[in-house]
Amino acid sequence: MQELLKQIQDHKTEIEAFTAIDEKAAEEFRIKWLGTKGLVKTIMGEMKNVPNEKKKEFGQILNEFKQFTEAKYEELKQSTVNGQQSTASNIDLTLPGDNIPVGTRHPISLMTNRIISIFQRLGFAVAEGPEIEDDWHNFTALNLPEHHPARDMQDTFYVQQNPDWLLRTHTSNIQIREMQKGKLPIRIICPGRVYRNETVSARSHCFFHQVEGLYIDENVSFADLKQTLYFFAKEMYGSDVKIRFRPSYFPFTEPSAEMDISCMLCKGAGCNVCKKTGWLEILGSGMVHPNVLSNCGIDPNKYTGFAFGMGIERPALLKYGINDIRLFSENDVRFLKQFMNYY
Ligand code: DAH
Repeated sequence: MQELLKQIQDHKTEIEAFTAIDEKAAEEFRIKWLGTKGLVKTIMGEMKNVPNEKKKEFGQILNEFKQFTEAKYEELKQSTVNGQQSTASNIDLTLPGDNIPVGTRHPISLMTNRIISIFQRLGFAVAEGPEIEDDWHNFTALNLPEHHPARDMQDTFYVQQNPDWLLRTHTSNIQIREMQKGKLPIRIICPGRVYRNETVSARSHCFFHQVEGLYIDENVSFADLKQTLYFFAKEMYGSDVKIRFRPSYFPFTEPSAEMDISCMLCKGAGCNVCKKTGWLEILGSGMVHPNVLSNCGIDPNKYTGFAFGMGIERPALLKYGINDIRLFSENDVRFLKQFMNYY
């Protein structure tokens, strides 16, 4: 009986290794193994020599061998079509490949990248920071101590109270984190998402995006701030753009100013978008407050700096002619696909 078992095992090894390059070879396989005078039949014929008490056990082994051979034949039949092995015939290596569908860039990402690339040309590096922030980095270090009335300018989502954790209300937290690292000079541009507890409408949302800028070195002046932002405005909105600064208030800068650009739609004549003023407000800025520098361990007698912050949604609305800020976060592919060929 041992001999019979060995024979079956050898047959199996041979069958397993067999490959057919065409239908003819598959047919030869069938005749050799499964034909009326085939080897499977011969082996099955050995049953009569098996003692009665072993018949059940061997019956199973032989049946299993037969099924194994039949399955192999089916496989060979499948893989040989039109006189050749299918893997060889069905693949046309000269056909162009299927395109892998790639997504489109989101208009907010497009606008962010545009802004970043302008400042990168001036030597600004990109820095990022956390969206879940502690009170100190988002407010206190920025010269907004507890109970400071200016905290009400930004309606905050708290994640936890005492100690306070919140969703950052602006990207100014990144300034603080970079200054704390203590590596000077600093020249960074900080894009990111920010959150405020505001009613969602076509014009405002409970989350949006900002880009913050910070430049700290010896002898940085307001003239540097103006020149940098003027360069930005010209690159972004065209060389005929005009800029103007209006005095403003931010706790973290002194003096502070808001910058307007001449309305690119009506060229300053007055239209609905600029509310007939001819000007569009695009960013807040100022000279970094000495308290902010010392809060971060930088000597305000040695170093000065300027900072600015701007929203990304608004320029994106203007640039792409979009009239509802909610479209940015609705993930409607019909909207998003329109930015296929934008850079
Ligand atoms: N953090 C301000 C805001 O969200 C924007 C801002 C204004 C940032 C002036 C600055 C700055 O860095 O200097 O409204």
